[in-house]
Amino acid sequence: METNKVTRRGFLKIAGLTLGGSILTCSGLGYLASRSLATKMARLEPSEFTFGEGNSADARVLVAYATYAGSTMEVAAAIGEELGVRGYRVDVKPVSEVTRWNNYQAVVIGSAVQYGDWLPEAIEFVRANQQVLKSTRVALFSVHILNLEDDPTSRAARLAYLDRVRPSIQAEAEEFFAGRFDQRGAVRLLPKLIAWATPEFDLLDWSKIRAWAQTIFS
Ligand SMILES: Cc1cc2nc3c(=O)[nH]c(=O)nc-3n(C[C@H](O)[C@H](O)[C@H](O)COP(=O)(O)O)c2cc1C
Repeated sequence: METNKVTRRGFLKIAGLTLGGSILTCSGLGYLASRSLATKMARLEPSEFTFGEGNSADARVLVAYATYAGSTMEVAAAIGEELGVRGYRVDVKPVSEVTRWNNYQAVVIGSAVQYGDWLPEAIEFVRANQQVLKSTRVALFSVHILNLEDDPTSRAARLAYLDRVRPSIQAEAEEFFAGRFDQRGAVRLLPKLIAWATPEFDLLDWSKIRAWAQTIFS
């Protein structure tokens, strides 16, 4: 769908990122920038978390996520924490680390959005596990930075982020959270020195994220 496909040019235009980077490139700070970037440019190494370890083993929930720069991992952890408070025993894991199913009563799956789609490993996770997910309660969340408005065009564009996921899964809830754009993400889109100068913008709304986690699977 046309609205779903976010071109590199379109993304940069909306993010308004190029100006500061161009200034930096001309300013002779290149050496400093490239050293600083060396630690920041790699994809974030995702972590696992557990919540509600004292809760009943009969009420287990998996929160499986895919992140590039980390914001989706933070959202997944916050959702896991809320579910733990609600009495579930919660495993929060990157999709690539879900190797066995611990009799989960429910599964939350979330991904960062890149170029109008979930990250490839998240799409693959849903496809590969669609049989087991059919007999489980499922809720989906997406973390993104464009198409956040409430008009029909914007809404349609963000709903389309799940076009490649929905055919494989019947989810009882879908939510979209504004994310964060930082240098790690900028390096995916821009020359390194320009990425270094990119201002971070953080739109994460923790109240909204935690409120959603309090309502799913009720
Ligand atoms: C290469 C790249 C492509 C992106 N494409 C989109 C997009 O198509 N639509 C959108 O809303 N956000 C897009 N974003 C913004 C990310 O979805 C947003 O920064 C998100 O918070 C990243 O999640 P993460 O920190 O878990 O990787 C893109 C970011 C990057 C780095």
